[in-house]
Amino acid sequence: MPGRTFLSVLDLSPEALETCLGLAARLKRERHLGADAPTARALAGHSLALLFDKPSLRTRTGFEIAMRELGGHVTCPPSADALGTREPLADVARTLERWASVAAVRTFEQARLHEFVEATTRLRIVNALTNEEHPCQALADCLTVHERCGAVTGRTLAYVGDGNNVATSLTHAAMMLGLNLRLASPEGFALSDATLAAARQVARHGAEVVQYQDPVEAVRGADAVYADVWTSMGQETDATRRRAAFQGFRVTRALMAKANDDAFFMHCLPAHRGEEVEEEVLEGPRSVVFDQAENRLHTQKALLLMMLEGVGI
Ligand code: CP
Ligand code: NVA
Repeated sequence: MPGRTFLSVLDLSPEALETCLGLAARLKRERHLGADAPTARALAGHSLALLFDKPSLRTRTGFEIAMRELGGHVTCPPSADALGTREPLADVARTLERWASVAAVRTFEQARLHEFVEATTRLRIVNALTNEEHPCQALADCLTVHERCGAVTGRTLAYVGDGNNVATSLTHAAMMLGLNLRLASPEGFALSDATLAAARQVARHGAEVVQYQDPVEAVRGADAVYADVWTSMGQETDATRRRAAFQGFRVTRALMAKANDDAFFMHCLPAHRGEEVEEEVLEGPRSVVFDQAENRLHTQKALLLMMLEGVGI
């Protein structure tokens, strides 16, 4: 079944990614129609299973509201039952496939999602964040850049921090949409050469991704500056070493002043104020973090519609 998985932004064609963002913008405009929205019953009869091995507010609740607003149902089996040691993942996947149309899974290794895919033939599977990728976040981020800039293509975004799951998916989406990316990470925390090579393979409209070790150099000429936590979920025992390594990679008012005059600040949330971002930047007039959070809903709705109605994904 084509378009059965969204484990990575790379599962989408560039055209499907553009379609998804356009559909999300339309769903955002139509949301005020409530039960009269043209899509209010679109997913009637479909169930979404939410399987989360790590905490979540935006992704989990965003999917719950998205599915309900599209007329579908949501089920949230406890993670200890679905993703623990009680039974093999393949058995969980094959059971859910008999009941649900789609599963959104947040877990540790991306390989665990592949176990879901290999065990099933019909179940749609969405990556709700793994150690390696966070593709749902990238959809909302690109919609937010589009809203702010009127376009994504030809703009420049600087990402300051860890070459992590958020950075990886953002890089994939940016290259596909023609958004230039400048990534500043301390030595040992940059995106891998393999990740960069895969992203460059899908680059369009001359998009470039360049790595820096100096955040000031990276933000020069940027239309937006993006930060994520220095210690991701699952890395807590490494927090002290990371805090030391990332000193100098905090997004401060001084750093924002080196970017373009009207540059805005992005963060996937949750944020650690005073760590990767200064309170004044996060709460300042150039912060669009709650637009990003809102757009998680609209983009996840678009994704579900495309995957379940087979609209070109
Ligand atoms: N940005 C994001 O994925 O938020 P949650 O961890 O709250 O889902
Ligand atoms: N990089 C962070 C993103 C949280 C939404 C993490 O994986 O914890």
